[in-house]
Amino acid sequence: MTTNQLSFDASATAQFIQPFEWSAIEPQVMAAARLLDSRKGPGNEFLGWLDLPVKYDRAEYRRLLAAAKRIQKQAEVLVVIGIGGSYLGAKAALDFCGHHFHNNLTPKARHEFLGHNLPEIYFAGTNLSSAYLTNLIELIGDRSFAINVISKSGTTTEPAIAFRLFKKILESKYGVEEARKRIYATTDSQRGALKTLADQEGYEIFVVPDDVGGRFSVLTSVGLLPVAVAGIDTGEMLRGAADARARYKTAPFENNDVLQYVAARNILLRKGKEIELMVNYEPRLHYVAEWWKQLFGESEGKDGKGIFPASVDFTSDLHSMGQYIQDGRRHLFETVLELNNPGAEIMIEEEAVDLDGLNYLVGCTLDEVNKKAAEGTRLAHLEGGVPNLSLRIPAATPYHLGGLFYFFEKSCAISGYLLGVNPFDQPGVEAYKKNMFRLLGKKS
Ligand code: PA5
Repeated sequence: MTTNQLSFDASATAQFIQPFEWSAIEPQVMAAARLLDSRKGPGNEFLGWLDLPVKYDRAEYRRLLAAAKRIQKQAEVLVVIGIGGSYLGAKAALDFCGHHFHNNLTPKARHEFLGHNLPEIYFAGTNLSSAYLTNLIELIGDRSFAINVISKSGTTTEPAIAFRLFKKILESKYGVEEARKRIYATTDSQRGALKTLADQEGYEIFVVPDDVGGRFSVLTSVGLLPVAVAGIDTGEMLRGAADARARYKTAPFENNDVLQYVAARNILLRKGKEIELMVNYEPRLHYVAEWWKQLFGESEGKDGKGIFPASVDFTSDLHSMGQYIQDGRRHLFETVLELNNPGAEIMIEEEAVDLDGLNYLVGCTLDEVNKKAAEGTRLAHLEGGVPNLSLRIPAATPYHLGGLFYFFEKSCAISGYLLGVNPFDQPGVEAYKKNMFRLLGKKS
């Protein structure tokens, strides 16, 4: 069935999940959903994301749109500095809604395809690679640029190092005064090194609300400022999320896609399917899966529990991971992101000499071939013992992306409660940092 809304379908799990298993888990899922609604569960100080699409700071949002316009005028390149939850949501949104080659288009082509003169957008602070940063500096060259530095804590090592570097370049290029007008800081409202520096230097500041954790922050200024700079309609993203919020709040278990997804993945986990593979057939979904992996990995993977979130890009990975998925250990299930409308059409044309044997496809669109590949893969994997869930996305629009973000955030919170963990903390990420700081000789 196709609808004009995001829709979840677990019908292909019939051979793996018996009707009584759905009935058995329903009360448990409902109890977890009620715990979230009651706002009394673990981590309840981080539930701001639940109402964000309808309850956000309007004045800050207007200021954000004005800043995005200013950046579009003042910079040929925007460097977005952040990591984890301060990076992946914006990257996912730019790739999902934007032109595949946004950064590679000539300014003339960018104007023609995207309708405005938009800056190129690059991310930094996502690694500690000197080669990456050096190459990015070389790429920017003597072009005009601005920085959006994003860090809730303001102390994360990777973005802090990248910011130190780019701030210096900006200051030597423009002088300290002008550089200040080209740095936009998204951080905590009260605390942290970045907040202190931004106040001292007079950078324009956008706030990560206290009650929204990094991986749930895509619909705050963290995600929305870079997305607005890319010319993507953030109002539509918020509208899609608001509609999703209303849908998933009231629909009963059997018609509620969030509750159905939570139920299906947890039934499968209990049957030994410990790895969820997020599958896509469109490159614009790659970073949506990266964002999803962080969301679910950091939220559920603790206390020795959790489904391991992994992802594959088909059809490409059918030529690498396909063998394992079809035939390897049977501890996997797939969730397929199905994009109904790819937003472009290519017809397969006839060749006089049919050497490659493709003339039987003449008259088909490439998307029809892609969809048949998906269908054929689904059938093969089901036969190979891989349960298949699907999430249909009508089109690659900001509206549907907003809905998708909200769908996964709510599913993640309920699924975490069902697993019996606090979905809103991440004690495990401190372990590597402690060792790294000790090895680097950092004074406590
Ligand atoms: O979800 C999280 O909390 C983390 O992934 C953080 O977003 C990430 O570590 C970056 O933190 P910060 O924004 O404080 O620099």
